[in-house]
Amino acid sequence: MISLNIEKTLGFISKENVFAYEAQVKAAQEALENGTGKGNDFLGWLHLPSSITKEHLADLKATAQVLRENCEAVVIAGIGGSYLGARAVIEALSNSFAWLQDKKSGPVILYAGHNIGEDYLYELTEYLKDKKFGVINISKSGTTTETALAFRLLKKQCEDQRGKEMAKKVIVAVTDAKKGAARVTADNEGYKSFIIPDNVGGRFSVLTPVGLLPIAVAGFDIEKLVAGAAAMEKACGKDVPFAENPAAIYAATRNELYKNGKKIEILVNFNPKLHYVSEWWKQLYGESEGKENKGIFPASVDFSTDLHSMGQWIQEGERTIYETVISVEKTQYSLQVPSDEANLDGLNFLAGKHVDEVNKMAELGTQLAHVDGGVPNMRIVIPALNEESLGGLLYFFEKACGISGYLLGVNPFNQPGVEAYKKNMFALLNKPGYEEESKAIQARL
Ligand code: PA5
Repeated sequence: MISLNIEKTLGFISKENVFAYEAQVKAAQEALENGTGKGNDFLGWLHLPSSITKEHLADLKATAQVLRENCEAVVIAGIGGSYLGARAVIEALSNSFAWLQDKKSGPVILYAGHNIGEDYLYELTEYLKDKKFGVINISKSGTTTETALAFRLLKKQCEDQRGKEMAKKVIVAVTDAKKGAARVTADNEGYKSFIIPDNVGGRFSVLTPVGLLPIAVAGFDIEKLVAGAAAMEKACGKDVPFAENPAAIYAATRNELYKNGKKIEILVNFNPKLHYVSEWWKQLYGESEGKENKGIFPASVDFSTDLHSMGQWIQEGERTIYETVISVEKTQYSLQVPSDEANLDGLNFLAGKHVDEVNKMAELGTQLAHVDGGVPNMRIVIPALNEESLGGLLYFFEKACGISGYLLGVNPFNQPGVEAYKKNMFALLNKPGYEEESKAIQARL
């Protein structure tokens, strides 16, 4: 089970003021439970872990198995909430060098539809040229340009290389039950498809087939992931006392820090495998809270790598930041520093120590240095990088995000701001239906 420690924020804000949020947090929890708050048509994620059925998981696992048996590579096509959750879990659990290994335990997992890079897509299609590959096309709206464009390329290539019949078997759609181009294509072509529930927004959808199918295809245990999330659903439940509820304490602490001028939260890890957990978290909090001209700016760093780049800024730059560190208690493997007779690098004082002991001291030393430098520091400790812990961590952040958004007074479940660039892009590309916008935007250039 994960734990949260806010002790090192308390020189900057008081415990009393954090605990003063108790009533507001209770109200936020009740609004979530009763569906009486803003964005209440998007609360399907709240009890998702405890309501996922064995049959649903079995269906996902069976489909994943078809892809695993018939594909050397599987491309996950999706963007934002339709991609980051899956990538966060897959990268956290995968061997860092898996895809360079000759003996593979399953298909190589690749990503597309999350950018519009011509070179990226060219290189991807080149790589896939001699591969038996499949595609999971993930889009709730079914109309997202980045994803639709990548899928158009991949569908054609898959059909050309593998034939229509096999393509039907290895292309799977995860989309809305009724609407959108992805749904129409899936139905017309006879693809296996999974539904993204109406009441679950993209960034809260990792525990729907959006995340679960790719994670299962990558060979990870989605039952354990869901079990970890379900345990956290309980631990963050509305009747758990404030002081014992990690989501409540996290939401209250970050809002109190924000009130005290700490406008940027930096999510820190000391394990490179957590990089995409931070990317997922940035979307979750950025899209949920950044509106009405307010909201903490979510940033992230990978330490100790970024101590050699961003470390200076964090130590001595503008004092508007605080850090939330995800600390992984136990490593999966064991590696000790060898002794060296010549000791030219002077590292013999570390001989016999586990690499993780060095990492943990870097973590502790950094925490103390940053606190001394005026940066409040919270710590989230997870026991290990495994499915249970990750399931718990993801749900913890989701629940805290719902509470935190309500404390801030915004609707944490919409994202009106993401439409502005799309409107301009369509106008610039002369999309049919955008004639007026095209004229107006051309006049500005
Ligand atoms: O959180 C969100 O709603 C967004 O990030 C979406 O997930 C993202 O824009 C992709 O949308 P869609 O799933 O409709 O393709």
